[in-house]
Amino acid sequence: MKIMDSPGKRQTQQERFEKTRTLIYPDSAEASRGLAAEVSVLIRRRQAEGRGVVLGLATGSTPVPFYRELIRLHREEGLSFANVTTFNLDEYYGLDRHHRESYSQFMRDQLFDHIDIPAENINIPDGTVPLDRVYESCMAYESKIEASGGLDLQILGIGRTGHIGFNEPGSASDSLTRMITLDRVTRQDAAADFLGVHHVPRFAITMGVGTILKARRIVLMAWGENKAGIVREAVEGAVTDQISASFLQEHPNATFLIDQAAASRLTRRSLPWLVGSVEWDDAMTRRAVIWMAKKLGKPVLKLVDEDYNENGVGELLTAAGPAYQVNIRVFNRLQHTITGWPGGKPGAEDTHRPERALPHSKRVLILSPEPHDAFVGMGGTIERLIEQGHQVRLAIQTSGNLRVSDVAAHKFASVVREMAEIIGGQGWEGQSAYAGEILSQLAAKGEFGLESETVRRLKGLILRGEARDAAHVSGVAGEALQFVDLPFYEAGRYRRFSLTDQDRETMRAILDEYRPHQIYLTGDVADPSSLQFLCFRSVAETIAAGQAGDWFQDCRVWIYRPLEAHEIDMAVPMSPDQLAKKYDGIRKFQSIQADELESPERNRETAREYDGLGMAEYEGIEAFQRWLPA
Ligand code: GLP
Repeated sequence: MKIMDSPGKRQTQQERFEKTRTLIYPDSAEASRGLAAEVSVLIRRRQAEGRGVVLGLATGSTPVPFYRELIRLHREEGLSFANVTTFNLDEYYGLDRHHRESYSQFMRDQLFDHIDIPAENINIPDGTVPLDRVYESCMAYESKIEASGGLDLQILGIGRTGHIGFNEPGSASDSLTRMITLDRVTRQDAAADFLGVHHVPRFAITMGVGTILKARRIVLMAWGENKAGIVREAVEGAVTDQISASFLQEHPNATFLIDQAAASRLTRRSLPWLVGSVEWDDAMTRRAVIWMAKKLGKPVLKLVDEDYNENGVGELLTAAGPAYQVNIRVFNRLQHTITGWPGGKPGAEDTHRPERALPHSKRVLILSPEPHDAFVGMGGTIERLIEQGHQVRLAIQTSGNLRVSDVAAHKFASVVREMAEIIGGQGWEGQSAYAGEILSQLAAKGEFGLESETVRRLKGLILRGEARDAAHVSGVAGEALQFVDLPFYEAGRYRRFSLTDQDRETMRAILDEYRPHQIYLTGDVADPSSLQFLCFRSVAETIAAGQAGDWFQDCRVWIYRPLEAHEIDMAVPMSPDQLAKKYDGIRKFQSIQADELESPERNRETAREYDGLGMAEYEGIEAFQRWLPA
């Protein structure tokens, strides 16, 4: 499929809600390869004509696979960047070009150091110009873009506020390169990179929306479910300065390049019956009926024929109606998802239960990408599984040590040092020296320096302690709690991790040794560069490739993550006490920023959703989806 040089707007029936051309790819790797191939065609064509190419580049995790592919084309297929000039979108204000989180450093690490682009062809806004010269320097950036002939192609990602570059809500469509104050959400999203939100700069210099719209061609990439909502608003919603990406609707040659997860909220994916004829299998029926019930604020059993007709679902009645018959089917199915027996109910008929009664008890393997994930996602269910006699093993895949603040490490090291001083004497020299080493390394690295292995280890131990406390609340004790510390995490940083064979091997060994009857996982639709997605892949790839042992024949895999009612295959209800207890457990993670930990509202919301559809009213629900290898 050609990405470049394609007409900006072209509509099929399916795409009729989309106001910017949108191409959906199976995954980010394939989409990135497609874009890189087109860019390489452009570069070579211009080379043949003796002309240059001007590219507008973006940072963030989104374009990383695209940059990797450009590097591969350079190394393996001789693609030269000698005739390429680049202009980056933005830079944090106050960070010099060698700061590890500066976009300048990012671009060198991810692209420029690996290709033959002449240094003088690289342009990135300067985050260090004194305040009184910012305006001048921004205008110079604009002039330089113009003098180079203008942008042939602008690459974009999208922030959760819908921003492109750093054009936060309120940016006008004709805004130019300028200094901007970063939105709270944007700073929150960068918190993991900066080891805490208070370290994230408050200002940035960014090309304006107007600067971007002047590019002859624009490609915005987005991956993962986190982007699905904002992609839908930008592509299908009104053009508004509250979502700067929506201005691409007014550009004659702009394309959204997205993966399946980022496409999941587009009308053609989420409400396909509104854009064409669909096959009314059980999943589609459930999806449409639940959507309609929620839209009308009616419980499922009160929907009538007219509701179906008036909401574009009339076709379903011709296939399977009348309404009360479809309603009852969906109602029963929803009801059958509810179970207080997540490991199966021994001695009970299980035809309509989410999980088999036998074997009892089951070996249950729960995987938590970071120490807190499983407790947040399924803390109540963990407790149930243990109470109901299953052999639960909770494997924490990564140490999570990058999330622990320096303050926490400082506190622990100081306590050790003071103990050594107070208790004093022999036998404490080792501890005292260790504490001294930590404290001096913390001081030497400053706020943003890279942690030494020793500091990361201590931070990991702090989180282990918190994880043990949280596990204790749900009844997971001793050997049942396993710290895997996957190597990819220890060697990397947020948004730049990459999975290795060693990680897959480690997970495979755990599966084969434990031979679980149930596996609980998360991360299947997360951003492909996220730690959660890599942890998911470290297990799912082995299973999907048929490389799991024969034990897998008797194993079910359950995904835990925020799910909508129509996606839920198992709903485990919680009483007010159970929900309160779960959150006691989560609060043990004191060294993780509170806003990284989800609030009990998520479980309450699912319960309210079920209640609204006509199910029993619970305080909270933890939701699961069955996962089958493709
Ligand atoms: C920052 C950058 C944007 C980028 C966004 C999303 O705000 N200024 O250019 O699109 O982050 O980042 P990611 O691709 O990591 O999701």
